[in-house]
Amino acid sequence: MSRVRVAVLISGRGSNLEALLVACKAPDFPAEIVLVISNREDAQGLQVAKDAGVAIKVIPHKQYSMREEFDAAIDDALRAANVSLVCEAGFMRIHSEWFVKTWEGRLLNIHPSLLPAFPGIRVHQQALDAGVKISGCTVHFIVPELDSGPIIAQAAVPVSPSDTAGTLAARILVEEHRIYPEALKLVAAGKVKLKNGKAVFLPSP
Ligand code: GRF
Repeated sequence: MSRVRVAVLISGRGSNLEALLVACKAPDFPAEIVLVISNREDAQGLQVAKDAGVAIKVIPHKQYSMREEFDAAIDDALRAANVSLVCEAGFMRIHSEWFVKTWEGRLLNIHPSLLPAFPGIRVHQQALDAGVKISGCTVHFIVPELDSGPIIAQAAVPVSPSDTAGTLAARILVEEHRIYPEALKLVAAGKVKLKNGKAVFLPSP
């Protein structure tokens, strides 16, 4: 079976990267992670990649004065590794429109809320401040507008009155680790595609 070659873009801890790596170990998983790119050399997730024997590349955004130049360096690394799909997992940079258009339909992200609620940063605090009783996480195709692409997978997580941003984040993270591999599996197997700005799901046989 030929597997879709995937790169994961990270900036920090790398727990979603780890969940994806575990999923890729299944013999019938349609994707393999061949490259991990970080914009920070101190990202803990780089060690996760090394431990799994995956190639890593640090591309520090501070070395580039223009967003497009930084994205061009990422694009070069993806092409050099013959990557066809990109999973962003805690990658804390916003891409240029050029990059997003170039990788359209092949660029996924995970966000720790039920989008379109609470895009951006301090997501769990936003959920607590809004008093929602349910939050969750979303895997979506990346589009130029931040945290707003067509949805591939979501999971709901109850918010408890005693939650802090930390306890809510921890509970949501468990679901992130479950749905990101599921979403990657769907996209890599061609069961969901981005078409005319929508996520189109193939009917299951
Ligand atoms: C996750 O909560 C993800 O949804 C958000 O950033 C966090 C990254 O965590 N975008 P990790 O690096 O995957 O552990």
